[in-house]
Amino acid sequence: MKRDGRLARRWIATGRLAAAMAAVLFLQTAVGDTLTEKATETVLRRARLMERAGSGLVVLISGETKNFSNDVDYPFRQENNLFYLTGINQVGIALALRPGAQEPREVLFLPRRDPSRERWTGRMLSVEEARRLSGIWDIRETGEWESFLDAALSGKDHEKRLSSSEEHTRVDNAAADSSDLWLILGNGTALAPLFRRERVFADTLAARHPRIRRKDLYPLFRDLRIVKSAYEIGRLRKAIDITCEAHQGVMQKIRPGINESELDGFIHSVFRKHGAQWGFPSIVGSGPNATTLHYEQNDRWIEDGEMVLMDIGAEVDHYSADVTRTIPAGGRFTQEQKTLYEIVLAAQEAAFSAIRPGATIREVHNAALTTLKAGLLRVGLVADTTGNQYRMWFMHGTSHWLGLDVHDPGTRDTIFAPGMVLTVEPGLYIREDALDYLEKTSGNEKLLQTIRPAFERYKNIGIRIEDDVLVTQEGYELLSGSAPRTVEAIEMLMGR
Ligand code: GLY
Ligand code: MN
Ligand code: MN
Repeated sequence: MKRDGRLARRWIATGRLAAAMAAVLFLQTAVGDTLTEKATETVLRRARLMERAGSGLVVLISGETKNFSNDVDYPFRQENNLFYLTGINQVGIALALRPGAQEPREVLFLPRRDPSRERWTGRMLSVEEARRLSGIWDIRETGEWESFLDAALSGKDHEKRLSSSEEHTRVDNAAADSSDLWLILGNGTALAPLFRRERVFADTLAARHPRIRRKDLYPLFRDLRIVKSAYEIGRLRKAIDITCEAHQGVMQKIRPGINESELDGFIHSVFRKHGAQWGFPSIVGSGPNATTLHYEQNDRWIEDGEMVLMDIGAEVDHYSADVTRTIPAGGRFTQEQKTLYEIVLAAQEAAFSAIRPGATIREVHNAALTTLKAGLLRVGLVADTTGNQYRMWFMHGTSHWLGLDVHDPGTRDTIFAPGMVLTVEPGLYIREDALDYLEKTSGNEKLLQTIRPAFERYKNIGIRIEDDVLVTQEGYELLSGSAPRTVEAIEMLMGR
């Protein structure tokens, strides 16, 4: 038989993990016609997802374009889970997977190319291009989507395909027997509202197929996506390196009198120079603005003696970095700034030390907190470390998961394993109005008296130090270490 990879592609199309892995290996070693690294990834991801789902019908629908104004849209960005399974960033696609069924187990639905649409918004993917990107063999037109699902859910034959060169296939009744309909719903999570369209879609299908049981793909994606492959770590490294380059550049460029907006623009120019986008709007907060956690206005003139907090992340192939540096506009920390900065830095170091396989984000947070609270007591910003007083100055978690979403799915109690990537980002935010909102109790009156002098000394300083960390067999690797982090290293690069 000719070694043209056709057989291997049939194995991939079975969607079975072992067959897909063997086929990928065969294509890589024996056939010139290899899948791209990205397509190889998506082939294995689909096989793993199907292995976990076990049976039923898995359905993913494309994100929508969002309107910006009149006939102008925001740039389109594919829904991350569909992107994870297909590598395709085109609106209007849909994916059906049928774990446990006979072929076809993977079908991608693609809008038919439309020259008049392409004239306005650019080329649409051809069937061949979609195949090459995703490694999915069976590609059909989106117009067939609903009838395909109806057939799959009711066990009827369905024989149409987009490409006439292929032999006909049948949808057997495996999905119909189990009646499980898998969609991403985010049940019980804060993300559930993001999947409103999936819920509506499930309602529509349930109206036609009353026997189906809805199943939530969210926990499956969360468990799959949390461990990064070598390919994914490579994408993250690139995004993080670009982000660190932007931080280094700002440290050399910044001076009192510059506007936050100019730094924002400079950071974006570094991202774009490397072909990257941002994974979230840059936060460039100077002086009091540094105490607003997700400040995005970025339009204040920066004065001498102030600190500037920059929380930024380049995105490469949907993978986002998330790195924060807080630096003195004039190149040298004041005594007060340095005192608070060293507390945050020590908390970050304590958090790093807690990272190893088997640990959790909760433990990392607690390690940071112990150091932070001791520092706050030392400088007089809390009166004791046993309660929640520290929350006046540190009110967010220390870590989150990082990946396709800058806040990637995962929990605080997920057990660390090699390949997981998280942020470590303690901070202190001495907001000018923080004490105004304390309840007027006698205990709080006493607390106010105790901490008022320190508050007056440190108010309007906001500091966050955020780094991206890979869990390794031995412990961890700091991925964002090339952006200076210590007082000495920052002052040295700033050269003043
Ligand atoms: N950039 C958002 C965050 O640090 O979580
Ligand atoms: Mn973060
Ligand atoms: Mn951040």
